[in-house]
Order: sequence, then structure tokens, then C-alpha cells
Amino acid sequence: MSAKRIITVLGATGAQGGSVVRAIAADPTSGFTVRAVTRDRAKAEDLLAAGIEVVEADLDDEASLRRALDGAHGAFVVTNWWEPPAAGSAWTSRTEREQGQAANAARAAAATGLRHVIWSTLADTRSYLPDAPRQEAGYTVPHADGKAEANAFFLDAEVPTTFVTAPMYYESLFTFNAPRRTQDGTLVLAMPIGSARVVSGTVDDVGRIAYAIFNRGDALVGRTVPIASDLCSGEDFAAGVADALGEPVHYVPVDPAALAHSGMPDAGELANMFQYFVNAEKDLTQIDFNWLRDLNPGLQPFTTWASANRHRFRALDL
Ligand SMILES: NC(=O)c1ccc[n+]([C@@H]2O[C@H](COP(=O)([O-])OP(=O)(O)OC[C@H]3O[C@@H](n4cnc5c(N)ncnc54)[C@H](OP(=O)(O)O)[C@@H]3O)[C@@H](O)[C@H]2O)c1
Repeated sequence: MSAKRIITVLGATGAQGGSVVRAIAADPTSGFTVRAVTRDRAKAEDLLAAGIEVVEADLDDEASLRRALDGAHGAFVVTNWWEPPAAGSAWTSRTEREQGQAANAARAAAATGLRHVIWSTLADTRSYLPDAPRQEAGYTVPHADGKAEANAFFLDAEVPTTFVTAPMYYESLFTFNAPRRTQDGTLVLAMPIGSARVVSGTVDDVGRIAYAIFNRGDALVGRTVPIASDLCSGEDFAAGVADALGEPVHYVPVDPAALAHSGMPDAGELANMFQYFVNAEKDLTQIDFNWLRDLNPGLQPFTTWASANRHRFRALDL
């Protein structure tokens, strides 16, 4: 039997990378095996307990990335724009840091001769938001625009790369998009998306599609794959959550400008992101779900996922 080829997974202790690890590990017939990356092995106890190889590396440290990639066939690369900057860090912005990390990953992938990288990028929002207030470093949605620009590092380094864009996670309904109970006792789901349908998905589908992309060999190198499980409007989200909770949930479309002035951290960035979902809806929703289902037969429509995650909605403190 030939040895399994190694896929190094960045962000393995997080949502996207974790889902890639689970997708590969769940298939006992896989020709791949995972090398999971964390900055701190103590965070990877679950992975170690599951018998997964864990190595320490830091996206800020190219030499450590080279060690993590050495001998691997491929890598899943994700950066976390949202992580607060470390005290005393030299980066002038989170976008500059994210781009520096992507550049490090691309150089390390080229130096170690990887055959296939999946870079978790996002689309550039700027042409859809000509009049939106500029955010960090002059971008409209820095965590998206900066990733889109960073695609060039992988192309310039001639790394065989498939670009994937992750959807808005369904799982955000447990956190920043969670329903709230108003003073009169009703549950509301407030989102600044008007009547637009948003490219949405469970983070588990990110991993399953990434795994399928690795399985297709070179076929999808150079392509951008928009990962999605479903297209959901605010009404769709509210109906699925209501069904899961067993009580009515009312969708309330919020004005993105109100979010922008809410005072919450990164409010301007998030308001622009939601406005982009609305402005770009026609283009973003051109997704071939039959093709995605062919890659990932387990693709989870929102109603299926919400019903399967009933217990998690019911555990929310609402
Ligand atoms: N939330 C959404 O709906 C959504 C949608 C599309 C795209 N995204 C994008 O997803 C990205 C975040 O991915 P996620 O949701 O999987 O994040 P996450 O669950 O918060 O996990 C972050 C991961 O990144 C790793 N990491 C952070 N800094 C690192 C560094 N310097 N070196 C090595 N590893 C590092 C962490 O590993 P350790 O801590 O173990 O080292 C952790 O595994 C963001 O950039 C965001 O823009 C999010």
C-alpha cells in the first residue's frame, strides 16, 4: 500500500481548518493524511487525542511554515483577520498582517514545492461599494479586500493554488447573528441585508468541499470556488431558527448605516460587508449548486442544518 500524502492544514484548531481536518479524517479510505498546524499544541488536545499529527508553526514566521509544509503534498491556508493584534506587534493594520501572513504562506509553499494549495480568500468588495465609508487602510471591507489582493502572492510565486471563498457561516447564528428577545418577549433576528439572499453555509461544508478539491488533483488549480451550502434571506434564516426553537422568530431588516454607527467593534467594516451582500447579490448568487453537490454530496441546505442543530439553538440564552 502506498503511503498517504500529507495535507498541512493551517487554522486546524479553528472553524475552517478544523472542518478540513474533520473531512479528511472522516474518510478512512482517503489517500491523504492531515498535519495540523497550531501556534500552541495545548490548543490541539482534541486533535492529538484523535491521533492526528500536530505541529507548531506561526503564519508570521516563514521558517516555521516551511518546516510545517516540508514533505507535504498540499496545504489548506486560512488567515484570521479578526484576531486582535498582539501587543507590540510591528503590523500597522490587521490587513497588512493578513497579507504578510499570506505572503509567508505562498513563499513557504513555493520553497517546499507543494503540489496543491487551497487559499481561503474572499472577493474584493470595492467596486460594489463606491460610496461606502473607507475603513482600515482605505479598504471598504478590509478582511475581504485584503484577502483578494493577497491572491497575487500565490500566483506570483507560481504555487498551484485553488482559491476558495467561504460563505457567511450558518454558525454565526449562534454568535453575532443570534436572535434576540425584545422587551415584549418576542424573538427577533436583526440583520442588515434587506430582502437580499446571502451566500451562506455551514463551516463543515467548507472542509468537505476543500477535501473534494484536493481529491480532484490538478483539475481545479487556478480556479476560484465559491463555497456555499445555500442562499438565505433574512426571512429564510428566521424561519429555520423558529423551527429549531419551536417558537416564532421575526426577521427585522436593519439599516446598515445604523449598524455602522452602533459603536460595536468593527461596526463600519461589518456594515459595509452586509451592504456588499445586498449590492452584489445578483453576481454573488450565481452559484452552481449542482456542481457543488457533485463535489460534496453532503451539502447542507439551511433548513436541514438548522433542524440538525436544534439542540444548539435551544442551548442559547435567549
Ligand atoms: N465568520 C464568517 O462567516 C466568515 C466567512 C468567510 C470568511 N471568514 C474568514 O475566516 C477567517 C477566520 O477563519 P476561521 O473562522 O476558521 O477562524 P477561527 O475559528 O477563529 O480560527 C482561527 C485559526 O487561525 C489560526 N491562527 C491565527 N493566527 C495564526 C498565526 N499567526 N499562525 C498560525 N495560525 C494562526 C488559529 O490557530 P491557533 O490559535 O491554534 O494557533 C486558529 O486555528 C477570517 O479571516 C475571516 O475573514 C469568516
